Amino acid sequence: MSFLISFEGIDGCGKSTQINLLKNELENRDISNCILREPGDTSISDKIREILLNNENNICSESETLLFLAARAQLVREKILPELEKGSLVICDRYYDSTLAYQGYGRNLDRDLINSLNQFAVNKMIPLITFILKLDPEIAYRRISKNEVDRMESGGLKFLQKVQKGYSFIAKSFPNRCYVINCKNKDKLTIHSEIMETVNKYI
Ligand code: TYD
Repeated sequence: MSFLISFEGIDGCGKSTQINLLKNELENRDISNCILREPGDTSISDKIREILLNNENNICSESETLLFLAARAQLVREKILPELEKGSLVICDRYYDSTLAYQGYGRNLDRDLINSLNQFAVNKMIPLITFILKLDPEIAYRRISKNEVDRMESGGLKFLQKVQKGYSFIAKSFPNRCYVINCKNKDKLTIHSEIMETVNKYI
């Protein structure tokens, strides 16, 4: 079984916790899997990640977009495609939709252009399932503010609210692959079982 699942949502929505729970479940069932995070997970993409998240860097929104896409293009060819060919279930902590949500909606850049560049970067490698974890931006922002914030997180609450709107638009635009998981007032195991309900339909 080999296909791609992506996890999306604003910073602080709890993606990483859910990805770990999913990984444990797949391992219990002996399902070969590979977890990747964006930006990163190839040597070039990790260098790009460092540039993008470093608070000391002053990066214009256009460069920012192109850097995220460069990291993604490399990840697709160096990791995602080979892992799928090996038969792994590939799970991406952020992918394709993050650029439309963060740069298209968060930074107000041309969304049609971002869509075209994204297609170029991923070369038709679109996820079969995309989980969009939905949490109030106010709650998510409180969570991330407890630790030191990186360059992307320093956009503040208003930025997260714009990104959240972007995710709502994405969910409506791609209903066949997008599953919105409402995380408000739910514990992590309840959220995990909602995610498993969908994953079980495909495996
Ligand atoms: P990360 O620490 O991985 O955040 P998270 O754990 O919330 O995913 O940092 C990635 C940051 O980069 C995050 O703020 C989202 C942002 N991002 C974009 O703005 N555009 C993109 O295309 C991607 C992949 C991430």
